[in-house]
Amino acid sequence: MAKDVIIACDFSSKEDVYSFLDKFTDVKPFVKIGMEMFYAEGPEIVREIKKRGHKIFLDLKLCDIPNTVKKAMSVLSSLDVDMCNVHASGTIAMMEAAVEGLTRPDGTRPLLIAVTQLTSTSEERMRNDLLIDKPLNEVVVHYAANAQKAGLDGVVCSPLEASLVKEKCGNDFMTVTPGIRFADGDVGDQVRITTPEKAREIGSDYIVVGRPITASDDPVFSYKRCVKEFLGKEI
Ligand code: C5P
Repeated sequence: MAKDVIIACDFSSKEDVYSFLDKFTDVKPFVKIGMEMFYAEGPEIVREIKKRGHKIFLDLKLCDIPNTVKKAMSVLSSLDVDMCNVHASGTIAMMEAAVEGLTRPDGTRPLLIAVTQLTSTSEERMRNDLLIDKPLNEVVVHYAANAQKAGLDGVVCSPLEASLVKEKCGNDFMTVTPGIRFADGDVGDQVRITTPEKAREIGSDYIVVGRPITASDDPVFSYKRCVKEFLGKEI
């Protein structure tokens, strides 16, 4: 299975994204574009970044009735993104509809992954706000299994959940993990973190890395360092 480093491009304007990406001349990293940028700039930002030769994870976390999600996914598929996502809490039926909407007439489609429980959701909030009494890990693994049943390719999860997901769903079911920090780097507001090397050891397939690269004095160097630690090879 493909493994890669995805840079979270959490910038506030398209000019900032483009000037960041301009620094990369010999390599074209896989990038993540989130809701804030997509809602502000629209599909044009996806087209422009694709034109520059990058793969895109469009992180919009869809969750709605199956028919609406299916139609929205078919729009994203025609934008030619490489990876997108839904909330597993939308149910198996919604996730199946997402796969259907995403699949192009020739049978190809972008990778589709599910958010299980957001890492901002604690066990206490899950119990009090959502009336879910099960342990958080059990819920994450159950939602991952639902995503697999619906035909999705994997889940976004914390690095600490990745091995539980692999145990339940098998090694071919992708785990995409944020919360990555260099051993000698700033932690920032992330709580449960791991290094690129450790993420590899525990079986992450894609790591999503933001500030350790975007806020670095030398983003290209930090990206290459991250790839080297995660994939174990120089680029
Ligand atoms: O800058 P940093 O490396 O913390 O960025 C991590 C990226 O991953 C951000 O875009 C953040 O929104 C995203 N993310 C996360 N934790 C999750 C899901 C997504 O940090 N559970």
